[in-house]
Amino acid sequence: MQLFKFSLLLSAVNLAYSIASSSSENRHSWIAPTSTDVRSPCPGLNTLANHGYLPRNGRNISVPMIMDAALDGFNVGSDSIIQAAKFGLLSGNAFTTMDLDALQLHNLIEHDASISRGDFASGDNLHFNETLFSTLADANPGVDYYNATSAGQVQQERLAISLATNPNITNTLKEFLLRCRESALYLSVMGDPLTGVAPKKFVQIFFREERMPIAEGWTRPNVTITPDTTSPIEVIVGEASNWTATQQCEDLVIGPNITI
Ligand code: HEM
Ligand SMILES: *[C@@H]1O[C@H](CO)[C@@H](O)[C@H](O)[C@H]1NC(C)=O
Ligand SMILES: *[C@@H]1O[C@H](CO)[C@@H](O)[C@H](O)[C@H]1NC(C)=O
Ligand SMILES: *[C@@H]1O[C@H](CO)[C@@H](O)[C@H](O)[C@H]1NC(C)=O
Ligand SMILES: *[C@@H]1O[C@H](CO)[C@@H](O)[C@H](O)[C@H]1NC(C)=O
Ligand SMILES: *[C@@H]1O[C@H](CO)[C@@H](O)[C@H](O)[C@H]1NC(C)=O
Ligand SMILES: *[C@@H]1O[C@H](CO)[C@@H](O)[C@H](O)[C@H]1NC(C)=O
Repeated sequence: MQLFKFSLLLSAVNLAYSIASSSSENRHSWIAPTSTDVRSPCPGLNTLANHGYLPRNGRNISVPMIMDAALDGFNVGSDSIIQAAKFGLLSGNAFTTMDLDALQLHNLIEHDASISRGDFASGDNLHFNETLFSTLADANPGVDYYNATSAGQVQQERLAISLATNPNITNTLKEFLLRCRESALYLSVMGDPLTGVAPKKFVQIFFREERMPIAEGWTRPNVTITPDTTSPIEVIVGEASNWTATQQCEDLVIGPNITI
């Protein structure tokens, strides 16, 4: 009798354990957004939401929720994204949270000459666009990876297209710095944060499906991504993009002792 009770207890423990472990696997599996879920122009935040690191509905997201999700999902440290996240709060009226779709607010963080989204003046600056993405998809021919040089060339080409087709383009130092940071981020989260080399297959899945390519062999970076790791990548990206401003912006104060 005692033995019977003991083995019942053991099976209950086993059952509880297997439920818990399967639900923690499922908790972060990729699920496409439903028609009522909202998403942003940011493939990083969208991927985190599609894997349940951020609320899958894309709403009521606080800055600490973003910091935890970025670290858990991508090993991106808060220093790399805290300013963007705080700016994000200005996209809506809630005191302490934001909705992902509100981040399309033009010239807050969202900018022209993106890699995978149209300019504001095109009418859709929110959704992934395969035509625009082909510049990146076809970059660095002959090898199976993207790097800081190819990322800079992609920025140069995307900006040239926008300058040629969009009379309303905004192209100041602010957009340049954002674009270099974003390029360094895709290279870092999908590749090696210390070299800025990322397999093409992983980067393409990240943009096209907003999915972590775990089934294809991707693993979360084992180095925490910080400004110390992204800055050298951003410098090479910036040089390779041969950027020049076509407009000036006022000095932008983004933190104590940080003016750009
Ligand atoms: C988890 C780390 C993050 C990664 C890996 C990431 C990655 C990226 C990349 C690669 C782009 C460029 C998309 C393109 O040019 O088509 C981008 C754009 C964007 N990101 Fe993120 N991001 C991260 C965090 C954030 C945070 C914290 C915010 C603000 C709450 C943010 C807001 C945006 C916005 C609004 C854009 C659109 C800019 C534009 O192209 O117009 N991102 N992000
Ligand atoms: C969540 O965000 C929605 C807007 O998407 C807002 O209407 C609602 O009041 C928010 N809920 C809470 C609990 O803050
Ligand atoms: C382009 O800019 C002009 C002048 O600022 C403005 O009147 C017009 O609405 C803008 N067009 C688009 C499509 O953004
Ligand atoms: C994608 O961008 C191209 C080039 O700007 C545009 O012609 C096309 O309509 C866009 N596609 C969609 C589905 O919005
Ligand atoms: C990026 O890859 C290309 C092609 O292999 C190479 O020519 C270039 O030097 C690389 N850039 C960096 C920064 O390693
Ligand atoms: C970290 O990841 C890199 C690239 O995937 C790998 O070469 C390296 O062995 C890993 N280091 C550790 C300590 O796991
Ligand atoms: C860099 O830009 C300048 C003008 O902005 C142009 O004259 C030069 O040809 C460009 N160089 C490359 C390698 O694209």
